[in-house]
Amino acid sequence: MDESKLHIEDVYKSYDGKVILDDIDLKVSKGEFCSVVGPSGCGKSTLLRLILGQEFPDRGRIAIDGEPVGTPDTHRGIVFQRYSLFPNRTVLDNVLLGKKFQRGQWWNPFHRNQDDIDEAMSFLKKVRLENAADKYPHELSGGMQQRAAIAQALIMKPPVLLMDEPFGALDPDTRDELQVFLLELWEQQELTVFFVTHDLTEACFLGSRLLVLSQYYTDDRGLDAPARGGRIVADYPLPSVANSLEIKDDPAFQRLISDVRNAGFDPRVRQHVSEFNLTHSDSFQTVLPDEYSQGTGIRIR
Ligand SMILES: Nc1ncnc2c1ncn2[C@@H]1O[C@H](COP(=O)(O)OP(=O)(O)OP(=O)(O)O)[C@@H](O)[C@H]1O
Ligand SMILES: [Mg+2]
Repeated sequence: MDESKLHIEDVYKSYDGKVILDDIDLKVSKGEFCSVVGPSGCGKSTLLRLILGQEFPDRGRIAIDGEPVGTPDTHRGIVFQRYSLFPNRTVLDNVLLGKKFQRGQWWNPFHRNQDDIDEAMSFLKKVRLENAADKYPHELSGGMQQRAAIAQALIMKPPVLLMDEPFGALDPDTRDELQVFLLELWEQQELTVFFVTHDLTEACFLGSRLLVLSQYYTDDRGLDAPARGGRIVADYPLPSVANSLEIKDDPAFQRLISDVRNAGFDPRVRQHVSEFNLTHSDSFQTVLPDEYSQGTGIRIR
Protein backbone atom coordinates (compact mmCIF):
# COMPACT_ATOMS: atom_id res chain seq x y z
CA MET A 1 0.00 0.00 0.00
CA ASP A 2 1.35 3.38 -1.04
CA GLU A 3 1.16 5.77 1.90
CA SER A 4 2.07 8.92 0.02
CA LYS A 5 -0.13 11.99 0.37
CA LEU A 6 0.06 12.56 -3.35
CA HIS A 7 0.87 10.05 -6.07
CA ILE A 8 0.98 11.05 -9.73
CA GLU A 9 2.02 8.60 -12.41
CA ASP A 10 2.28 8.85 -16.22
CA VAL A 11 0.15 11.98 -16.34
CA TYR A 12 -0.32 13.78 -19.65
CA LYS A 13 -2.40 16.85 -20.33
CA SER A 14 -2.86 18.69 -23.61
CA TYR A 15 -4.92 21.64 -24.75
CA ASP A 16 -6.01 21.97 -28.37
CA GLY A 17 -3.66 19.17 -29.41
CA LYS A 18 -0.64 20.74 -27.74
CA VAL A 19 1.03 18.70 -25.00
CA ILE A 20 1.37 20.82 -21.85
CA LEU A 21 2.28 18.20 -19.25
CA ASP A 22 4.38 15.38 -20.64
CA ASP A 23 4.49 12.28 -18.45
CA ILE A 24 4.51 13.61 -14.90
CA ASP A 25 5.63 11.16 -12.21
CA LEU A 26 5.60 12.38 -8.64
CA LYS A 27 5.23 11.09 -5.13
CA VAL A 28 4.89 13.37 -2.11
CA SER A 29 5.09 12.12 1.47
CA LYS A 30 3.41 13.64 4.51
CA GLY A 31 5.11 16.70 5.90
CA GLU A 32 7.02 17.62 2.77
CA PHE A 33 7.16 21.25 1.67
CA CYS A 34 7.48 21.03 -2.12
CA SER A 35 8.52 24.17 -3.92
CA VAL A 36 7.57 23.98 -7.58
CA VAL A 37 9.30 26.26 -10.07
CA GLY A 38 9.53 26.39 -13.85
CA PRO A 39 9.42 28.72 -16.84
CA SER A 40 6.18 30.58 -17.50
CA GLY A 41 3.74 28.39 -19.41
CA CYS A 42 5.38 25.06 -18.49
CA GLY A 43 2.14 23.86 -16.88
CA LYS A 44 2.48 24.54 -13.14
CA SER A 45 -1.04 25.91 -12.70
CA THR A 46 -2.37 23.16 -14.96
CA LEU A 47 -0.77 20.57 -12.69
CA LEU A 48 -2.43 22.21 -9.65
CA ARG A 49 -5.84 22.13 -11.37
CA LEU A 50 -5.38 18.41 -12.05
CA ILE A 51 -4.48 17.76 -8.41
CA LEU A 52 -7.53 19.79 -7.34
CA GLY A 53 -9.75 17.67 -9.61
CA GLN A 54 -10.91 20.77 -11.49
CA GLU A 55 -9.62 19.21 -14.70
CA PHE A 56 -8.73 15.70 -15.78
CA PRO A 57 -5.54 14.32 -17.28
CA ASP A 58 -5.62 12.85 -20.81
CA ARG A 59 -3.81 9.81 -19.40
CA GLY A 60 -2.31 8.68 -16.14
CA ARG A 61 -3.31 8.49 -12.51
CA ILE A 62 -3.50 10.97 -9.65
CA ALA A 63 -4.26 9.83 -6.12
CA ILE A 64 -4.46 11.72 -2.83
CA ASP A 65 -4.18 9.62 0.33
CA GLY A 66 -4.53 6.56 -1.90
CA GLU A 67 -7.87 7.72 -3.37
CA PRO A 68 -8.11 8.58 -7.06
CA VAL A 69 -8.76 12.27 -7.66
CA GLY A 70 -11.84 12.86 -9.72
CA THR A 71 -14.76 12.69 -7.40
CA PRO A 72 -15.82 16.03 -5.96
CA ASP A 73 -14.19 16.52 -2.60
CA THR A 74 -14.35 19.51 -0.33
CA HIS A 75 -11.12 18.53 1.43
CA ARG A 76 -9.01 20.39 -1.06
CA GLY A 77 -7.41 23.66 -0.21
CA ILE A 78 -5.81 26.10 -2.55
CA VAL A 79 -4.49 29.61 -2.11
CA PHE A 80 -4.09 31.78 -5.21
CA GLN A 81 -2.11 34.96 -5.75
CA ARG A 82 -5.36 36.94 -5.51
CA TYR A 83 -9.10 36.47 -5.46
CA SER A 84 -9.16 33.55 -3.03
CA LEU A 85 -11.56 35.62 -0.86
CA PHE A 86 -15.06 36.74 -1.73
CA PRO A 87 -15.11 40.56 -1.47
CA ASN A 88 -18.69 40.79 -0.22
CA ARG A 89 -18.17 38.46 2.76
CA THR A 90 -16.40 39.16 6.02
CA VAL A 91 -13.19 37.37 6.86
CA LEU A 92 -15.08 35.02 9.19
CA ASP A 93 -17.71 34.25 6.55
CA ASN A 94 -14.98 33.62 3.99
CA VAL A 95 -13.31 31.12 6.31
CA LEU A 96 -16.70 29.52 7.06
CA LEU A 97 -17.57 29.12 3.41
CA GLY A 98 -16.04 25.67 2.90
CA LYS A 99 -17.86 24.37 5.99
CA LYS A 100 -21.14 25.72 4.61
CA PHE A 101 -20.44 23.93 1.34
CA GLN A 102 -19.86 20.71 3.27
CA ARG A 103 -23.20 21.17 5.05
CA GLY A 104 -24.99 22.01 1.80
CA GLN A 105 -25.74 25.50 3.16
CA TRP A 106 -23.44 27.64 1.04
CA TRP A 107 -26.42 29.50 -0.47
CA ASN A 108 -27.89 30.41 2.90
CA PRO A 109 -26.54 33.67 4.38
CA PHE A 110 -28.32 33.02 7.69
CA HIS A 111 -26.89 29.54 8.31
CA ARG A 112 -24.21 29.67 10.99
CA ASN A 113 -23.20 26.61 12.93
CA GLN A 114 -21.59 27.49 16.29
CA ASP A 115 -19.06 24.62 16.12
CA ASP A 116 -18.01 25.86 12.68
CA ILE A 117 -17.68 29.42 13.97
CA ASP A 118 -15.50 28.24 16.88
CA GLU A 119 -13.35 26.27 14.47
CA ALA A 120 -13.09 29.20 12.04
CA MET A 121 -12.03 31.47 14.91
CA SER A 122 -9.37 28.97 15.95
CA PHE A 123 -7.97 29.03 12.41
CA LEU A 124 -8.12 32.84 12.34
CA LYS A 125 -6.09 32.75 15.54
CA LYS A 126 -3.50 30.49 13.91
CA VAL A 127 -3.07 33.08 11.13
CA ARG A 128 -3.18 35.94 13.70
CA LEU A 129 -6.39 37.47 12.39
CA GLU A 130 -8.74 36.85 15.30
CA ASN A 131 -9.28 40.61 15.61
CA ALA A 132 -10.17 41.00 11.94
CA ALA A 133 -12.99 38.44 11.80
CA ASP A 134 -15.69 41.01 11.03
CA LYS A 135 -13.73 42.99 8.49
CA TYR A 136 -14.23 42.76 4.73
CA PRO A 137 -11.28 41.82 2.48
CA HIS A 138 -10.83 45.38 1.16
CA GLU A 139 -10.28 46.55 4.75
CA LEU A 140 -7.22 44.26 5.09
CA SER A 141 -3.67 44.68 3.85
CA GLY A 142 -2.46 42.32 1.12
CA GLY A 143 -0.55 40.22 3.65
CA MET A 144 -3.61 39.93 5.91
CA GLN A 145 -5.76 38.91 2.93
CA GLN A 146 -3.36 36.11 2.09
CA ARG A 147 -3.31 34.95 5.72
CA ALA A 148 -7.13 34.89 5.63
CA ALA A 149 -6.97 32.87 2.40
CA ILE A 150 -4.62 30.40 4.13
CA ALA A 151 -7.13 30.03 7.01
CA GLN A 152 -9.92 29.54 4.46
CA ALA A 153 -7.95 26.70 2.88
CA LEU A 154 -6.71 25.11 6.12
CA ILE A 155 -10.12 24.81 7.80
CA MET A 156 -10.98 22.17 5.20
CA LYS A 157 -8.00 20.11 6.45
CA PRO A 158 -6.62 19.50 3.00
CA PRO A 159 -4.27 16.49 2.78
CA VAL A 160 -2.05 18.70 0.64
CA LEU A 161 -2.17 22.50 0.85
CA LEU A 162 -1.86 23.78 -2.72
CA MET A 163 -0.52 27.28 -3.28
CA ASP A 164 -0.18 29.02 -6.65
CA GLU A 165 2.06 32.10 -6.35
CA PRO A 166 0.34 32.99 -3.07
CA PHE A 167 2.76 35.80 -2.21
CA GLY A 168 3.28 37.04 -5.79
CA ALA A 169 1.31 40.27 -5.33
CA LEU A 170 2.89 41.31 -2.00
CA ASP A 171 5.57 43.92 -1.43
CA PRO A 172 9.02 42.46 -0.57
CA ASP A 173 8.86 43.03 3.20
CA THR A 174 5.38 41.57 3.56
CA ARG A 175 6.45 38.69 1.37
CA ASP A 176 9.43 37.93 3.64
CA GLU A 177 7.15 38.14 6.67
CA LEU A 178 4.61 35.72 5.19
CA GLN A 179 7.34 33.29 4.15
CA VAL A 180 8.53 33.02 7.75
CA PHE A 181 4.91 32.82 8.91
CA LEU A 182 4.16 29.97 6.49
CA LEU A 183 7.24 28.03 7.58
CA GLU A 184 6.17 28.33 11.22
CA LEU A 185 2.65 27.18 10.33
CA TRP A 186 4.03 24.27 8.30
CA GLU A 187 6.08 23.11 11.28
CA GLN A 188 3.37 23.60 13.90
CA GLN A 189 0.55 22.05 11.87
CA GLU A 190 2.70 19.37 10.18
CA LEU A 191 1.32 20.43 6.81
CA THR A 192 2.11 18.91 3.44
CA VAL A 193 2.53 21.81 1.04
CA PHE A 194 2.76 22.09 -2.74
CA PHE A 195 3.91 25.64 -3.40
CA VAL A 196 4.23 27.08 -6.91
CA THR A 197 6.32 30.21 -7.26
CA HIS A 198 8.18 32.22 -9.89
CA ASP A 199 10.69 33.35 -7.32
CA LEU A 200 13.64 30.99 -6.98
CA THR A 201 14.83 32.62 -3.76
CA GLU A 202 11.40 32.05 -2.25
CA ALA A 203 11.35 28.46 -3.53
CA CYS A 204 14.76 27.59 -2.07
CA PHE A 205 14.07 29.41 1.19
CA LEU A 206 10.74 27.72 1.86
CA GLY A 207 11.01 24.23 0.43
CA SER A 208 12.20 21.01 2.00
CA ARG A 209 12.14 19.71 -1.55
CA LEU A 210 12.56 21.42 -4.90
CA LEU A 211 10.71 20.37 -8.05
CA VAL A 212 11.62 21.94 -11.38
CA LEU A 213 9.00 21.56 -14.10
CA SER A 214 10.35 22.46 -17.53
CA GLN A 215 9.85 21.93 -21.23
CA TYR A 216 13.58 22.43 -21.84
CA TYR A 217 15.05 18.92 -22.01
CA THR A 218 15.93 16.31 -24.63
CA ASP A 219 15.43 12.60 -25.12
CA ASP A 220 16.23 9.95 -27.74
CA ARG A 221 13.41 11.04 -30.04
CA GLY A 222 15.65 13.55 -31.78
CA LEU A 223 15.20 17.22 -32.51
CA ASP A 224 12.41 16.58 -35.05
CA ALA A 225 10.11 15.09 -32.44
CA PRO A 226 6.96 17.08 -31.70
CA ALA A 227 7.38 19.83 -29.11
CA ARG A 228 7.70 18.44 -25.64
CA GLY A 229 5.58 19.50 -22.75
CA GLY A 230 6.59 20.22 -19.19
CA ARG A 231 8.23 17.43 -17.25
CA ILE A 232 9.90 17.20 -13.87
CA VAL A 233 13.55 17.73 -14.74
CA ALA A 234 14.85 18.12 -11.20
CA ASP A 235 13.59 16.88 -7.85
CA TYR A 236 15.89 16.95 -4.86
CA PRO A 237 15.91 17.75 -1.15
CA LEU A 238 16.78 21.27 -0.03
CA PRO A 239 18.86 22.03 3.03
CA SER A 240 16.94 23.25 6.04
CA VAL A 241 17.37 27.01 6.46
CA ALA A 242 16.16 27.38 10.05
CA ASN A 243 13.55 30.04 9.17
CA SER A 244 16.18 32.76 9.06
CA LEU A 245 15.86 35.32 6.28
CA GLU A 246 19.60 36.04 6.50
CA ILE A 247 20.33 32.86 4.59
CA LYS A 248 19.14 34.64 1.43
CA ASP A 249 22.40 36.65 1.40
CA ASP A 250 24.59 33.61 1.89
CA PRO A 251 26.87 32.83 -1.12
CA ALA A 252 26.15 29.08 -0.94
CA PHE A 253 22.41 29.79 -1.02
CA GLN A 254 22.86 32.06 -4.04
CA ARG A 255 24.90 29.36 -5.81
CA LEU A 256 22.03 26.95 -5.21
CA ILE A 257 19.67 29.41 -6.89
CA SER A 258 21.88 29.86 -9.95
CA ASP A 259 22.14 26.05 -10.30
CA VAL A 260 18.35 25.82 -10.28
CA ARG A 261 18.12 28.56 -12.91
CA ASN A 262 20.51 26.67 -15.20
CA ALA A 263 18.77 23.34 -14.77
CA GLY A 264 15.29 24.37 -15.79
CA PHE A 265 15.06 27.91 -17.07
CA ASP A 266 17.63 28.30 -19.81
CA PRO A 267 16.30 27.08 -23.20
CA ARG A 268 19.92 26.58 -24.33
CA VAL A 269 20.69 24.18 -21.49
CA ARG A 270 18.77 20.97 -22.16
CA GLN A 271 19.41 17.93 -20.08
CA HIS A 272 18.71 14.48 -21.40
CA VAL A 273 15.95 12.50 -19.62
CA SER A 274 18.63 10.15 -18.32
CA GLU A 275 20.48 13.02 -16.62
CA PHE A 276 17.74 14.73 -14.65
CA ASN A 277 18.64 15.45 -11.04
CA LEU A 278 16.02 13.24 -9.42
CA THR A 279 17.78 12.53 -6.17
CA HIS A 280 14.90 12.97 -3.72
CA SER A 281 14.10 9.67 -2.06
CA ASP A 282 10.50 9.84 -3.38
CA SER A 283 11.53 10.63 -6.98
CA PHE A 284 10.75 8.21 -9.73
CA GLN A 285 10.55 8.43 -13.47
CA THR A 286 8.95 6.36 -16.20
CA VAL A 287 9.80 6.93 -19.86
CA LEU A 288 8.68 5.42 -23.13
CA PRO A 289 11.17 3.14 -24.91
CA ASP A 290 11.72 5.61 -27.77
CA GLU A 291 12.47 8.42 -25.32
CA TYR A 292 15.30 6.53 -23.71
CA SER A 293 16.27 3.04 -24.67
CA GLN A 294 19.64 2.49 -22.98
CA GLY A 295 18.71 3.04 -19.42
CA THR A 296 19.45 1.63 -16.13
CA GLY A 297 17.72 3.21 -13.17
CA ILE A 298 14.81 4.55 -15.21
CA ARG A 299 11.71 2.46 -15.49
CA ILE A 300 10.88 1.84 -19.15
CA ARG A 301 7.15 1.51 -19.73
N1 LIG B 1 -7.94 26.01 -20.36
C1 LIG B 1 -6.94 26.12 -21.24
N2 LIG B 1 -7.14 26.04 -22.57
C2 LIG B 1 -6.14 26.12 -23.46
N3 LIG B 1 -4.84 26.29 -23.12
C3 LIG B 1 -4.56 26.40 -21.80
C4 LIG B 1 -5.57 26.31 -20.79
N4 LIG B 1 -4.98 26.43 -19.58
C5 LIG B 1 -3.67 26.59 -19.82
N5 LIG B 1 -3.41 26.57 -21.14
C6 LIG B 1 -2.07 26.67 -21.74
O1 LIG B 1 -1.26 25.71 -21.10
C7 LIG B 1 0.06 26.23 -20.91
C8 LIG B 1 0.44 26.10 -19.46
O2 LIG B 1 -0.34 27.02 -18.70
P1 LIG B 1 -0.20 27.14 -17.12
O3 LIG B 1 -1.09 28.23 -16.70
O4 LIG B 1 -0.37 25.82 -16.49
O5 LIG B 1 1.34 27.56 -17.01
P2 LIG B 1 2.16 28.05 -15.73
O6 LIG B 1 3.40 27.21 -15.67
O7 LIG B 1 1.28 28.09 -14.54
O8 LIG B 1 2.57 29.53 -16.18
P3 LIG B 1 2.80 30.85 -15.27
O9 LIG B 1 4.13 30.63 -14.63
O10 LIG B 1 2.85 31.95 -16.27
O11 LIG B 1 1.67 30.95 -14.30
C9 LIG B 1 0.05 27.64 -21.46
O12 LIG B 1 0.58 27.61 -22.77
C10 LIG B 1 -1.41 28.00 -21.49
O13 LIG B 1 -1.69 28.90 -22.52
MG1 LIG C 1 0.56 29.57 -13.36
